[in-house]
Amino acid sequence: MSLWTKKSIDQARADGDGDEGQPTLARSLNAWNLTALGIGAIVGAGIFVLTGSAAAQYAGPGIVLSFVLAATACLFAGLCYAEFAAMVPVAGSAYTYAYVTVGQFLAWIIGWDLALEYLFASGTVAVGWSGYFVNLLKQVGLVIPPALTSAPLTVKNGFHFETTGALLNLPAVVLVGVITVLLYLGIRNSARVNGFIVLLKLLVVFLVIGFGLFYVVPAHWSPLIPPEVVDDKGSHYGWSGVLRGAGVIFFAYIGFDAVSTTAQEAVRPQRDMPIGILGSLIFCTVLYILMSLVLTGLVPYADLNVAHPVVVAIEAVQQLHWLALPVDIGAVAGLTTVMLVMMLGQSRVLFAMSRDKLLPSPLGKVHPKFRTPHVATVVTGVCAAVLAGLFPIDILGELVSIGTLLAFAIVCGCVLILRITQPDTPRPFKTPLFWLVCPLGVLVCGYLMYGLPGDTWLRLIIWMVFGFFVYFGYSRRRAA
Ligand code: ALA
Repeated sequence: MSLWTKKSIDQARADGDGDEGQPTLARSLNAWNLTALGIGAIVGAGIFVLTGSAAAQYAGPGIVLSFVLAATACLFAGLCYAEFAAMVPVAGSAYTYAYVTVGQFLAWIIGWDLALEYLFASGTVAVGWSGYFVNLLKQVGLVIPPALTSAPLTVKNGFHFETTGALLNLPAVVLVGVITVLLYLGIRNSARVNGFIVLLKLLVVFLVIGFGLFYVVPAHWSPLIPPEVVDDKGSHYGWSGVLRGAGVIFFAYIGFDAVSTTAQEAVRPQRDMPIGILGSLIFCTVLYILMSLVLTGLVPYADLNVAHPVVVAIEAVQQLHWLALPVDIGAVAGLTTVMLVMMLGQSRVLFAMSRDKLLPSPLGKVHPKFRTPHVATVVTGVCAAVLAGLFPIDILGELVSIGTLLAFAIVCGCVLILRITQPDTPRPFKTPLFWLVCPLGVLVCGYLMYGLPGDTWLRLIIWMVFGFFVYFGYSRRRAA
């Protein structure tokens, strides 16, 4: 087998189903479940936390335009994911798409890279969740000692780990454990719990938008893009600030792609995958634009540079104070489903890579009763718990963005290649204007990656070099 050996689409489907007589993943997700999984993964720390600092530091009220820009980049990728997920409906998502398009080696790279998105996002969001949860408990008089609620490690000067004196981020680890059990026990119940929590968090977002709109002060939106300022920290405001803002809040859109990892568990993937992926993305785009208009309309944007900007915005209006508690609950709920879907995605990618013999075979096993990839789920849970329990949030978050952008760029590129090399393969969903959308997708994602800090690039490279060792030392020989 050469590094570039490809799989046929039929082979990819057959490998996903495994040997005859063996248990397979349960097909039980419908269009609503898939859309809810998408919304579950998208609405989280990005809108509840990052919007404020991105507006205050970079874009001003122009953050609304940053949301439109980032959504456009995501739409290019979303269309490409929808085409692939309907055409090759197997658990590996971008990893499998690369395997059928450009061969095993690049598939490995993307599979390894996806861990940066799904696994590291679970860790990042668990840390954010823990912060909100501890705050919520405080409001009802329960205090957990700080040594048990924060990371014992921190990073100084880019790469030096230092201890902080804390022991463990216990709430984060406990939540990862609970989600692991839920995912282990079955996809149907996991989707139900997700659907319920999604409704709860959407209710909170609707409340903030619906009531907030009555109290906005239009003067706060003017000028929409404040004049550019260049200082020792770089430039902000102006169009360059809007662009930087888009790079930061890109994180808020991450997650629609995770829907594609459940393709093997969808009842009608050909029809429902595009609905789930694009439906959740478009719905959240509208929500984000409205939410950012409300936030920047309620208070001057400079006030939003805090960890809980939504609470700060509503507390600026006496009549909206009652919303503070629902917002905290909405944030806790929101972050829970982000983790659920990200961990779901990670376990499915591990499962697919194991079925292709690139990872140890237990990871590709399906539980005979629960019909879930139970070993891959537990391994995902343990890794996410270690990340969430020990590391601080910032170092994890930047890796998520760069890892995701790389995956998006590769998927957009692969759709283009497959359109040229296999133009006649049936495609239940076709990316419109593919010769324009695919290259633009690659370019925009590449541009957003370019804007990320040098340290993040270095960490990406280190992660990839580590991946090459595993590939050449283990996976390649095993798959041969
Ligand atoms: N989009 C997800 C969030 O904002 C990752 O939390």
